[in-house]
Amino acid sequence: MKRLYRFVWNSSTVLLSVTYETLETSLYWCIYVLKVTHNILYSMVKTLKPEEDAYGQEIWAYYQGRDISEVVERDDGYVDPSVSGPKIYFSEYEEWAPYQRLAMDSVKGRVLDVGCGAGRHSLFLQEKGFDVHGIDNSPLAVKVSKLRGLKIAKVISIEDINFKPNSFDAIIMMGNNFGLFGSYEKARKLLRKFHEMTSKKGLIIAETVDPYKTDNPDHLEYHQHNKERGRMGGQVRIRIRFRKYVGRWFDYLMVSKGEMKKILKGTGWKVRDFIDSENAQYIAIIEKTS
Ligand SMILES: C[S@@+](CC[C@H](N)C(=O)[O-])C[C@H]1O[C@@H](n2cnc3c(N)ncnc32)[C@H](O)[C@@H]1O
Repeated sequence: MKRLYRFVWNSSTVLLSVTYETLETSLYWCIYVLKVTHNILYSMVKTLKPEEDAYGQEIWAYYQGRDISEVVERDDGYVDPSVSGPKIYFSEYEEWAPYQRLAMDSVKGRVLDVGCGAGRHSLFLQEKGFDVHGIDNSPLAVKVSKLRGLKIAKVISIEDINFKPNSFDAIIMMGNNFGLFGSYEKARKLLRKFHEMTSKKGLIIAETVDPYKTDNPDHLEYHQHNKERGRMGGQVRIRIRFRKYVGRWFDYLMVSKGEMKKILKGTGWKVRDFIDSENAQYIAIIEKTS
């Protein structure tokens, strides 16, 4: 009886330990497979598929010499077919508005061009001898900027920016690209990241539009609706359409000067100067507080 008891006890112990080890190994592999799947799905979601790169297709078509226009669709159904369209993204320094040319005087050192598009600002600065790094989430826009001569241009979305500390002396967000901050919370998170990536005297040179300088009733109604649902008035949800291509919906943030100052508060940045245009657009030269 004693022997039988010992046998059962020993067998159960062995069985239990084997089961435990099998469970542990299975769990390890399950977690590993989940992690890998998550990474693959995550990168697929963040990277634009060719059919979603409507902006890039538009830039590519213009680069190929086709006369086209840009269509921006807002989530309330408002459609804005811009006449100037992609032409402006290829414009030369001499064609820029005076306030845009003036902003270039503040650029210094190693430059990161966020949402570089076809590369008009990067190319101008590269020509001037600056060490420029362009990034954009549109693979075709990056391709065009490189074909036009930009030495360093990469497909990176603003959300994925992850450069080492002290990588740049100036970050430029031209062509209303303060908008790429998307929302109040996302702006503050990215501003802190930009703080780390830049040198002690680093600058952000960002262009935007004061959304409230309008009498268009559709825009005014949209701002009001935005505020009612807890968004910033000028946080527009838009997508680009070009022929059969339809871009992803994304939030583009337009802010008044007061709103910009509020966003910057506590992020390590403050406005040094505003450069005004003749209309609602303006550029902020943003410097570090610490
Ligand atoms: C209005 S265009 C301005 C382009 C360029 N800065 C200029 O002024 O000619 C906006 C640019 O931001 C890019 N973009 C949009 N969403 C982005 C994101 N999440 N990350 C990086 N770039 C983005 C677009 O592909 C496009 O090139």
